[in-house]
Amino acid sequence: MDEKIRNLAKSFEENGYGVIENFLDSEAVDLLRREAANLVESSTIDDCRRQVFGHPIHVKSDYFLTSGDKVRTFFEKGAVDLDNNKLLVEKEQSVAKIGHALHCLNVSFRRCTTSCHVRKVFEAIGFKDPTVVQSMLIFKNPRVGGEYTPHQDASFLCTEPIRLAGFWFALDDATEENGCLQFIPGSHKEPLARRFVRSQDEKTGEISLIWTASPAEYDDDAFVRVPVKRGSLVLIHGLVVHRSAPNQSDKPRWVYTFHAYDKNNSKYLEDNWLQEIDNKTFLGMDYFLH
Ligand code: FE2
Repeated sequence: MDEKIRNLAKSFEENGYGVIENFLDSEAVDLLRREAANLVESSTIDDCRRQVFGHPIHVKSDYFLTSGDKVRTFFEKGAVDLDNNKLLVEKEQSVAKIGHALHCLNVSFRRCTTSCHVRKVFEAIGFKDPTVVQSMLIFKNPRVGGEYTPHQDASFLCTEPIRLAGFWFALDDATEENGCLQFIPGSHKEPLARRFVRSQDEKTGEISLIWTASPAEYDDDAFVRVPVKRGSLVLIHGLVVHRSAPNQSDKPRWVYTFHAYDKNNSKYLEDNWLQEIDNKTFLGMDYFLH
């Protein structure tokens, strides 16, 4: 594993992303998948509209803004009848993601996040004080799983200077058909195009979330598709431009992912949408296994 981690770090530096196959063994994937299925099963349908991932009501709602210390369920846009505020498909098929504190609140995901192999990856990419700020399950279920348009993760979780890494664990084979990741290699050497920030209304004090600029345009041909087997780790630089297509196949593409910054030499910005809650949701080095 040590040599694989060295190669991963090299690719992360050169391309802005890298892959290690079989980072999780089959048993570990089965466990996380069972755990994910249980979370879907036990999730409550509270108010479909505000639980729709990417919908304007969802972005404005506290349901999203206060999810940093909770395990909350968000539905796919195409799985909700917005007029009648109800699901169009079975709950099992309708979930887009669950977040954002699995790394704190769920034992299995916490173990995966703080494993000694993960710690070694941080060492290899030069993170001296890695701090995990959020975690998510992303489902991309057959037929309803939506696309992720081109973005840089640092738009959501910005630090100064930018020292952010995303860990992305495939819980299914991620293929071109079910929406594997696509990257623009080397794009992490370009600046951050825009940010998604908290903005407080001076009169009402109400917090809303806004984009600081319009989406950047990228050449379609610049993207490289990166299909991976279940159990693979994809490491994502906070500045690399990436996207994924909708799932048009009949196979799911479940993923567990978390993000960390290096607290040693960068500052987490106060206007990021996600803020630490009660000094307990950002997990630092002390939590990692040796
Ligand atoms: Fe991303």
